Amino acid sequence: MTVSYERTGHAAVRLARAASLAPSPHNSQPWSFVEEGHDHGFEVRVDGGRRMILTDPGGREAVIACGAALFNVRMAVRHLGFRPVVELLPRPGDSAFLARVGFGVHAPATETEAALIDAMPRRHTHRGPFASLALPRGLLDDLRGHARAEGAVLHVLEEPEELELMAELVRAAEDTHRADPGHTWEVRRNVGAGGVPVDACRFHPDATLLAGRDYLDLARRFIVPVRRRGLGTGTVVVLSTPHDGRADRVRAGQALQRVLLSAAARDVMAAFHTQPLELPETRARLRRRLAAGNHPQMVLRLGVPARTWTTARRPVSQVLVHDGASARW
Ligand SMILES: Cc1cc2nc3c(=O)[nH]c(=O)nc-3n(C[C@H](O)[C@H](O)[C@H](O)COP(=O)(O)O)c2cc1C
Repeated sequence: MTVSYERTGHAAVRLARAASLAPSPHNSQPWSFVEEGHDHGFEVRVDGGRRMILTDPGGREAVIACGAALFNVRMAVRHLGFRPVVELLPRPGDSAFLARVGFGVHAPATETEAALIDAMPRRHTHRGPFASLALPRGLLDDLRGHARAEGAVLHVLEEPEELELMAELVRAAEDTHRADPGHTWEVRRNVGAGGVPVDACRFHPDATLLAGRDYLDLARRFIVPVRRRGLGTGTVVVLSTPHDGRADRVRAGQALQRVLLSAAARDVMAAFHTQPLELPETRARLRRRLAAGNHPQMVLRLGVPARTWTTARRPVSQVLVHDGASARW
């Protein structure tokens, strides 16, 4: 079955817009999309040239971001009233290819899916303390179920020792990053137009239990008041996968986005603390001690923010290609 442009308002453009709303390291948007014409299929591809070369040399985080974009594509297909048919990598001789989504049988979106679709433009990354820490009843169990449904494991850190260890690992990795001029340059260069908005980085990066990225060089210039330190940290979770191949990372990205949208649907947002996953030693310790031997793909804090900031995206004309040629939308 094909979907005519007339009926859908050009489905590929809608899928690309939805995909682009996914989170990505420093808003790098390391993806491109290919439409096959007449909405037969829609490819999600990783753009290795847009990965964070110093923070993410192997491209693990870029692939996770594309996995999150893929989840949005699946939801956008559901929004159009069809079941997505997903073919995952590999495609021999095409290392940028991650997935192709086709249109399956007609079936209206469920209430749960509609809530996730609705949450897509409302989900934003948080930084700094949360205003309210009480999560809606049952949310964490729901999020565990959502991660499991995508082939990942969501571990909620409940024991004080686990939290302490996580704080120590994030601190160690963030200190290593801050002492590295290359890494500092990469982080700062991605603040401002087209990257992470300045206003979204105003909180002191050390205000919560887990150290944050120091996008504005605040740690050197301002000390966090002791009475505020650690307040507003929220609930800390680790998302992991049983294996660590490329397809597992695509799955991790889909699980991440499903978790983020399910939380956002209930006004809960996430802060990202991926620094310990960017250094082999801290990632290995985290794997052993806080991920039950699974491969940790993401570290998040969850809570309710007092306010959120919107981060801009590249226009569809820059990310969507028609059969190998640049498209004009
Ligand atoms: C793999 C990955 C790693 C990320 N790491 C961080 C991080 O360490 N610190 C941070 O503040 N945001 C991090 N982010 C969030 C991005 O900065 C954010 O998604 C991007 O700026 C777009 O903003 P939005 O999520 O509000 O739409 C990460 C996102 C992804 C997908």
